[in-house]
Amino acid sequence: MDKKYLIVGNWKMNGTPSQSSVLIEELVQRVNGGHFSEKLSLAICPPFTSLERAASLLKNSPIALGAQNLYCEPEGAFTGEISPPMLRDLGVGYVIIGHSERRSIFQESNGLIHRKIKAAQEHRLTPILCVGETLAERESGQAESVIGGQIRSALEGIGDRNLVIAYEPVWAIGTGKTATPEMAQEIHAFIRNLLEQQFSKEGLAMHILYGGSMKPNNAAELLRQPDINGGLIGGASLVAGDFMAIGQAVE
Ligand code: 13P
Repeated sequence: MDKKYLIVGNWKMNGTPSQSSVLIEELVQRVNGGHFSEKLSLAICPPFTSLERAASLLKNSPIALGAQNLYCEPEGAFTGEISPPMLRDLGVGYVIIGHSERRSIFQESNGLIHRKIKAAQEHRLTPILCVGETLAERESGQAESVIGGQIRSALEGIGDRNLVIAYEPVWAIGTGKTATPEMAQEIHAFIRNLLEQQFSKEGLAMHILYGGSMKPNNAAELLRQPDINGGLIGGASLVAGDFMAIGQAVE
């Protein structure tokens, strides 16, 4: 099977709409001027407030648009939340769900994450489900049981394979510490196996991204691992040259 790749920029809470426009214009210039593998897809997830400008700047470009969160109801009295149809209407295709920052800072539970996955798929948004262990969990030998639990509860009863998984070890996010390629591959293979159990052969072709201090200097080695299909990039996605260099690490 020909391996496909997806590189996604998670801008987190960075960039006013004006700042976002400058970065997107540079990304579009670089993607038009550079050489990229045909196996590669690119997406960026700016803050909600930048999505409308991003959608118009990315029109006719190969860079897809994603959001960083959503709520699981289509409309109603949910002050401060953003619904799946609101994102669809802006031309959003992907949505990050269950990022470790949302789990830890905003107390998102596996139950809520499950409802968000279902809501995204019902509205034909592709969820990027984030999973990963903390340092204490890894050191006590619980990485697989934690990740397995996160995936099983998020995907309970889900049959739609319109879904991306991102493995993001919490201890590697924004710390400059990356999982070694072997360490990441071991978890990716474990996740692949769970996907195969749930989606049969289709699970073999699903995207499993690595996230956590992925940079131009370590991307190629990570992306060469058989079960790593791309990256979810935080800090390096805010520098157009670095983000595109990660894309060009796909051979
Ligand atoms: P960094 O690339 O900054 O470590 O962030 C990773 C991440 O959390 C992407 O969602």
